[in-house]
Formats: sequence, C-alpha cells, structure tokens
Amino acid sequence: MKIAIIGAGNVGASIASLLISKQMCDEIALIDINQNLANAKAIDLSQMSIALGLDIMVVGGDDYQILSDFDIVIITAGVARKDGQSRAELAKINANIVAQASSQIAKFAPNSTIIVVTNPLDIMVYVAFKASGFNRKKIIGMAGELDSARLKFALKNHLGTSVTDSKSCVIGMHNDNMICLVDENLSIDEYENIRSQTINGGAKIVKLMNTSAFYAPAAGVINICQALINKDSKVLSCSVLDDNLIAFSRLVKISKDGVKEILELNLKLKDREILDKSIEEFIIYIKNFNINGANINFS
Ligand code: APR
Repeated sequence: MKIAIIGAGNVGASIASLLISKQMCDEIALIDINQNLANAKAIDLSQMSIALGLDIMVVGGDDYQILSDFDIVIITAGVARKDGQSRAELAKINANIVAQASSQIAKFAPNSTIIVVTNPLDIMVYVAFKASGFNRKKIIGMAGELDSARLKFALKNHLGTSVTDSKSCVIGMHNDNMICLVDENLSIDEYENIRSQTINGGAKIVKLMNTSAFYAPAAGVINICQALINKDSKVLSCSVLDDNLIAFSRLVKISKDGVKEILELNLKLKDREILDKSIEEFIIYIKNFNINGANINFS
C-alpha cells in the first residue's frame, strides 16, 4: 500500500506520522511546493520509522512523478484563511491549488482514490472531481469525521461520560450550517450549546495558537484510509458527491474502490431546511467555477 500526501504542512505531516505509527502502508510520498520542507519531513519521518523498528519508506519532493502507482493520494495543500479574507477569496486561491494537484494526480496515479482536506472542503471536493476527471466515488472529503469528533468532545465534557460508543455525528456542509445529529438526551438549550461548541471548535484552536488544528484532522483522514485499505467497515461521515454532483458530509460506507454506499438520512424538518439552504448556496457557488483540468476560470 502506497499513500501520498500533497502538502507537507501540519496536517500532512501529522497524517504521515499516524500512518507510520499505525503501520498502515509500505511507502509514503510527501509532495509540497516547498521542496525543502517536503524533503526535510520525509527524512525526519523515515528516521521515525527506523526508530520504531519499522521499514516504511518516506520520500519527499515537489515533483508529482513520485506518485506513480500510488493507491491513495491525500490533498492538504492550500493556504489558511487570513484575517478579513472572505471564504470566496480563499476558495479561489485554494481551488487553483487543488485543481493543479488533482490534474497531476490523474496523470501520475490514475487508479488512486483522492482524499481532500483543503478548505472550503465541500467546494474543494467538487474541484478535485472536476479537475481529476475521476469517478465521483473515488473522491472523498474529510470534514464530517473531524466535526463529529468535535461534537463528541463537547458531549463528553458536558455529560462527563465516555463517548467512544456514541452514535452522535455531524453531517452537512463543513461551515456554520453543519448539522449535529445528537443521539444523547439533551434539552433544547443543551443541544444549542453543544452545537455552537462544535461549530466553533476549529476557531477556538485558531484563536489559541494562531494556526488551525492538525492532529484531529489527521485522525479523520486515518479513519478514511483504514476503510479504503479494508481494515475497518465502520460507517463514516465523509463529504462525497451525489448524482447531482453536490458534495457535503453524509454517512457512507467505504471499501477499497472508494464510496460503496451513501446511507439514507432521515432528517428532522429543521435540519432538512438547513441542508437545503446549504445545497442552494453550493450550487450558486460552483457556478462561478469553470474547471478544465488544472485550469479554472472564475466568472
Ligand atoms: N502545491 C503543493 N503544496 C502547496 C501548494 C501547492 N500549490 N500551495 C501550498 N502548499 C503547501 C504549503 O507549502 C504548506 O506546506 O501546503 C502546505 C499547507 O500546510 P500548512 O500551511 O501547515 O496548513 P495545514 O495546517 O497543514 O492545513 C492544510 O487543511 O485545514 C485545511 O484548508 C486548510 O489549507 C489548510 C489545509
């Protein structure tokens, strides 16, 4: 099993570290526009593998050719949102980066499955699909697993109980319209409080350390990799495209060939309305993108 990561920053390197410590693959490639960073982290991670008594090869660089024959390619490359920058401005910058990466993945690893992490996530899933030309089942966005972990963290703190068996999860768009499906008994006020903590979970970390989270996002990616390499058949919350090419996190089953099944959701009226509104916004948004391989025109 060969797993590549585009973007050797905080999230990318954390994913690589987990892949090694959980012995999930034989080879890892790190690709970054910053060649020295990719090389340095590849050396450090190779030495980590050796120190752990393992034989996992890690290579790094800025040349996509090293992706030849890779099975899974994870896109974390992108820039973080700057103070005062709108989501739309960020989307344009990251869409170019994700489109460029996806067209290179299609060229050098045409049989791979792509996992997208770069934000704004659901839009980037669509961009990766269009730019790679892959079957939509081979493009999986990681957001629902992270948001679900944030929801369970808030529930654990509130209830003071373990949440490892909790069926609570988050679906929908990876923005303020995410939908928290809570399995525990909560009052309306308690629910609203937990929901707000979940939505603001990422911003809280940014405020504390001036950069976004990376350990929990990396763990979300690992859950998807585990399903893809057939180690785990748990239901996951992942942003996937439906027949209408709309991407948002839904409950899915994943197998080695990508998305195997999208589970039917039985939402409350209020949640359905939130989701419908998000879908409308998504459709308006992607109309701005005219994507042809790595080339994007914005209207
Ligand atoms: N090609 C390859 N790598 C790129 C490109 C590009 N065109 N543009 C940027 N990168 C690399 C940067 O050099 C950097 O090393 O992407 C990496 C991003 O790493 P960090 O800045 O540490 O960001 P990280 O915390 O890892 O978050 C990655 O995930 O949360 C989302 O959208 C968010 O952009 C963020 C992404």
